[in-house]
Amino acid sequence: MRKNIVAGNWKMNTTVQEGVSLAQEVNALLKDAKTNCDVVICVPFTHLTAVNAVIDQNKLGLGAENCSEHDKGAYTGEVSAQMVASTGANYVILGHSERRQYFGENNEQLATKTRKALDNNLKPIFCVGEVLEERENGTYNDVVSSQLEALFGLSAEDFGKVVIAYEPVWAIGTGKTATADQAQDMHAHIRKVIADKYGKEVADATSILYGGSCKPTNAKELFAKPDVDGGLIGGAALKADSFMGIVEAFN
Ligand code: 13P
Repeated sequence: MRKNIVAGNWKMNTTVQEGVSLAQEVNALLKDAKTNCDVVICVPFTHLTAVNAVIDQNKLGLGAENCSEHDKGAYTGEVSAQMVASTGANYVILGHSERRQYFGENNEQLATKTRKALDNNLKPIFCVGEVLEERENGTYNDVVSSQLEALFGLSAEDFGKVVIAYEPVWAIGTGKTATADQAQDMHAHIRKVIADKYGKEVADATSILYGGSCKPTNAKELFAKPDVDGGLIGGAALKADSFMGIVEAFN
């Protein structure tokens, strides 16, 4: 059956030194903990190699927050999937709403990035989610369906390597969480869209994470929903104890 996953997204926070300390703290807390989920931290490119050196990847997975759609060459400032993989990372967040909003990422680019990630054995954590206006005008299911289409060029086997994260944009960093019922409804919708494309077996094996103001205080209720398989955590992942509080919501 599908895995439960709690993944941190550090975004553009921490220096390398601060990030290494935070990773060490999380790693130490996980060392003796019995957890019922996979735990991953996704960190800035600059931090990957140093963080990889201080964590036990049997207990704590490592990912990047983005990768280039290009393989190599004259793309100043870009970081390829192969470069990310060469740090020891195993995951990459793709299509985060902040990338879509501030850097104009679209389905076509995200389809290519997903291909590059998979070609380099990185597990994509593929983000979808509607903005407030789309929540309010009732188009949110359609918006998320069309975002998922970026993945639908994949074979069923490759799709099986992708983790989905539903992050309603209006809940990110706002302190305003989707209710557990709103999350469940969307996660069930996402699973149905996947089932319609790839069949029930693939859909049932897909981990779908919730993200958006997820905290130790609301994680248990969210994760108790049948189609919510964990969380993608922003702000609360920047403190080892609050991140672990969310991991423990699965205990
Ligand atoms: P917050 O948990 O800070 O709302 O961020 C969620 C998020 O964007 C994770 O990718």
